[in-house]
Amino acid sequence: MLELKNINVSFRSERQDKIFGHTRQQVLFDVSLAVKEGTCLGILGESGSGKSTMGRVLCGLLKPDSGEAVLDGVSVYASRAGRRNLQNKLSIVFQDYTTSANPRFRIRDIIGEGLTVQERREGKKLDRKAETSRLLELVGLPADFADRFPHELSGGQLQRVCIARAVACKPEIILFDEAISSLDAHTQVQVMDLLRELKDRLGLTYIFITHDLTSITYLCDDVLFLYQGRVTENLPVERIRETKDEYARKLLGSIVVFDTEESA
Ligand SMILES: Nc1ncnc2c1ncn2[C@@H]1O[C@H](COP(=O)(O)OP(=O)(O)O)[C@@H](O)[C@H]1O
Ligand SMILES: [Mg+2]
Repeated sequence: MLELKNINVSFRSERQDKIFGHTRQQVLFDVSLAVKEGTCLGILGESGSGKSTMGRVLCGLLKPDSGEAVLDGVSVYASRAGRRNLQNKLSIVFQDYTTSANPRFRIRDIIGEGLTVQERREGKKLDRKAETSRLLELVGLPADFADRFPHELSGGQLQRVCIARAVACKPEIILFDEAISSLDAHTQVQVMDLLRELKDRLGLTYIFITHDLTSITYLCDDVLFLYQGRVTENLPVERIRETKDEYARKLLGSIVVFDTEESA
């Protein structure tokens, strides 16, 4: 449903050359991918490999130098309507739930940001109180959390609120950029279980960006490896062990230990 075709992205570097003026640093090189409806595509790469930049291209925030992003046959960057088409169907959850949730907002207002998007799109007012309670319940939080402020919640609870905000816009696709990376291991598993449940219940499609292989194997159907701005591998998760990608092999090496213990 969502596709990238031969995407190239570069940024103006801070370094200024006396003769040539600003130089450009290329961050993505000829990146192509396809997200299949109802599946979870994992994007794995080390820090600085260009994952977030790719995420910004995927969610309509960054026009590439060349290449095309296409959602359901409509080019995203060719027209304003293309961007709007994408933004109507896609929500985002970031890693930094502390800054992506305004500390002065109550939880009901944070979720309300998502509800506003839905109201604007559908051109009708919602029963905000009922919708907020329903969404809190959906992400496994008590309805009376609506009155609380972000600092009164744990990291995992606050990330659940951000997930509720993302779901509030009734998206078809959700993009997660390191959304669980700063949670402790136990909370990560709980949030991943929630994500699996929501995906089935709401018929969602996921794009899951991470530097952590374990969460990929837990959550994703397909995985794409990004190394220094290039896609080095793209395969179903069941075949992850066949990868020739060096970084992936290194990560796999660290979990092979568990395997031998299991089979012993
Ligand atoms: N707005 C920007 N301006 C200049 N350089 C950027 C910008 N955004 C990202 N970069 C550079 O692009 C590279 C990839 O960054 P990023 O996509 O954030 O990687 P990742 O999310 O995999 O850690 C880095 O070298 C980063 O410094
Ligand atoms: Mg990043």
